[in-house]
Amino acid sequence: MNPLKHVAIIMDGNGRWGLKHYNSRKRGHRAGLKTVEKIIKATLKLKIPYLTLFAFSTENWKRPKSEINYLFNLLQDFLQKKILKLNKKDIKLKIIGEKKFPKKLSNLLSKSEKITNNNLALQINLALNYGSKNEILYAVKSLIKKKKHITEKNISSELYTKNIPDPDILIRTGNTNRLSNFLLWQLSYSEIFFFNKYWPDFNETDFIKIIKKYKKVKRNFGEI
Ligand code: FPP
Repeated sequence: MNPLKHVAIIMDGNGRWGLKHYNSRKRGHRAGLKTVEKIIKATLKLKIPYLTLFAFSTENWKRPKSEINYLFNLLQDFLQKKILKLNKKDIKLKIIGEKKFPKKLSNLLSKSEKITNNNLALQINLALNYGSKNEILYAVKSLIKKKKHITEKNISSELYTKNIPDPDILIRTGNTNRLSNFLLWQLSYSEIFFFNKYWPDFNETDFIKIIKKYKKVKRNFGEI
């Protein structure tokens, strides 16, 4: 049975779900947030120490302003209401990505990270304004600046995910089979599960099914 330390998720399909059920992409994002809460609970229950969620990519800035604002407001509202509860549950929140957001949200993100910094039960890495190619480029540039060798270990230590084990599992919902510039370095040996359901329809049972499948996979990391 494979050990499981880290699950990463591309939560795709909110927009299509919202359009299908309510003719509104925003309703899809709102429903998507409910699934986020369910999956956090399940991850805690299953004692998986790391959960990484792709919430906003560097490419998502190309979306209509009203949708971007809606997403940021949703996140702001969520943190304002729930951060103390997350803290009580011993959950640590870490933002991965370039922190360039409206001031109120930026402050709230920093405050949430600070409050939960010493927690141990579960670390949630929230990928916000995240792009993997940029992350790798910055890492290499930073090594050059520090006059350090460009080695695999040194690059890993300059990424947002330094000190975090690479994901064992990547799940992408929404019936789309691509990585979309997400954790390209860190996913080198991850088991990838593309799932047909839209993110708002994804649930704990689906999550557990994937984990059971993962546990039985023979992972050989290039060996035979
Ligand atoms: C992808 O669906 C989802 C996003 C770009 C945002 C993810 C946000 C949430 C799950 C809700 C809010 C979460 C937090 C943490 C505040 P899409 O819009 O690309 O869907 P589509 O492919 O159907 O258009």
